[in-house]
Amino acid sequence: MQIEEKIEYDINPQLHDEITRLRNDCFPEHSTNRSYFKQLPHFRFLAYEEGLLVGQMGIDHRVISVGESVFSIFGVIDLCVSSSYRNRGIATALLEQLSALAREKGIDFLFLVADDYRLYEKNGFQPVSTSLTWLRIDEHKNYGVGMERIENELMIKQTGKKVWPDEPVDLLGYLF
Ligand SMILES: CC(C)(COP(=O)(O)OP(=O)(O)OC[C@H]1O[C@@H](n2cnc3c(N)ncnc32)[C@H](O)[C@@H]1OP(=O)(O)O)[C@@H](O)C(=O)NCCC(=O)NCCS
Repeated sequence: MQIEEKIEYDINPQLHDEITRLRNDCFPEHSTNRSYFKQLPHFRFLAYEEGLLVGQMGIDHRVISVGESVFSIFGVIDLCVSSSYRNRGIATALLEQLSALAREKGIDFLFLVADDYRLYEKNGFQPVSTSLTWLRIDEHKNYGVGMERIENELMIKQTGKKVWPDEPVDLLGYLF
């Protein structure tokens, strides 16, 4: 298996189509005619088996505020692996490579939204419950700022020296 890192603007229309097919196979309930659900990511990790795209993960590089702290994060978006290639460690490899990149580049935390913790706990993430502020987006329209207490759907992984405080989180953008 090979993992390729791609800046979003280097993804050509054919590759966008391949990612779209993979996303729709993996998230049939959120099927779309585009390669992203809400917004373009900044870059992606793409996993290939013998030239075939079998896994993908979008990543947003952002600063967020948690109480009085400001953290740089990699937000993980639409991590998915083609159904016939699951349980071979592909998602784990994508997360490991992202963790290594984050450590190397001085990113404070990885951040994601999940209702099933299994993959992420195995890969060093922990759940957080917090008051969350974010920009609501649906089908390329924003619906203003959401503010809600979110219990156990957010997960973080420390990749720098900073410690996550138990404080309200402002995502300074949309929820991945
Ligand atoms: C979740 C997913 C990316 C895992 O990919 P993978 O390459 O099979 O993952 P790995 O082989 O590295 O690890 C397998 C482990 O993932 C965990 N897992 C399986 N499905 C999962 C899911 N939907 N969410 C979280 N963890 C999951 C299991 O613990 C599994 O190990 P186990 O069966 O021994 O308990 C893949 O099942 C997928 O694409 N699912 C559909 C899309 C999806 O739900 N994405 C996650 C969005 S948050």
